[in-house]
Amino acid sequence: MTAGPHLGLGIDIGGTGIKGALVNLADGTLTTERIRIPTPTKSTPQNVAEVVAQIVEQSGYHGEVGITVPSVIQRGVARTAANIDQSWIGSDVTALMSERLSMPAEVLNDADAAGLAEVRYGAGRGVAGTVLMLTFGTGIGSALIVNGVLVPNTELGHIEVDGKDGEHRAAGSVKDRKGLSYPQWAARVSHYLQVLERGLWPDLIIVGGGISKKAEKWVPLLECRTPVAVAHMLNNAGIVGAAYAARENLST
Ligand code: BGC
Repeated sequence: MTAGPHLGLGIDIGGTGIKGALVNLADGTLTTERIRIPTPTKSTPQNVAEVVAQIVEQSGYHGEVGITVPSVIQRGVARTAANIDQSWIGSDVTALMSERLSMPAEVLNDADAAGLAEVRYGAGRGVAGTVLMLTFGTGIGSALIVNGVLVPNTELGHIEVDGKDGEHRAAGSVKDRKGLSYPQWAARVSHYLQVLERGLWPDLIIVGGGISKKAEKWVPLLECRTPVAVAHMLNNAGIVGAAYAARENLST
């Protein structure tokens, strides 16, 4: 299957699974079931590239491929590595993937991809001004998008909150690890958002990540200055945003 004007392929690399699907770029929907392959135990760039190649092959797609990584990505090079092998740091992921796939690849941070997807097709569609997307999962990912333009690699999960990394206070995983109730965890998220709001005045905050499936249990409890919307695309935002970024050549 060759990339048509509206068909793209997005692949989302996570600490436990690598997921991909064909995306209808006209409306941001998936046109196929997601393919999911567990992340190799030794999650080096080379091992992960093999899995990415398997997904591309299974999809039958030929064209530019969008790929997300839980890393800061500067001009194709990974600068950090969250929940994946540390050997990603310093590796030119765009070169590695394009070579392995023999297709053009666009590589970007996972939360940046999710933010682009929500602003283009989801909860941030048509919103003028500054949109901040936050993904609450194992860590906290962030994407800052100003009038549709991404300010890449914001890494706001790592701002300090009461002497600790923000994501160690308020990520989705903290709720499970500490056995917190939704109200207890929501209070932590509110505090984290209020710390963010000292330095940023977004027009909208979009909350996503796995825990946004249960948004009704915690989003109404949030206390912060900025209006909060729930992500529309949940677990598919990374895939959709990656496919969109690849089509638009949105290099970070
Ligand atoms: C990483 C980010 C990533 C986020 C979500 C954070 O720990 O620093 O790069 O976007 O987790 O995966």
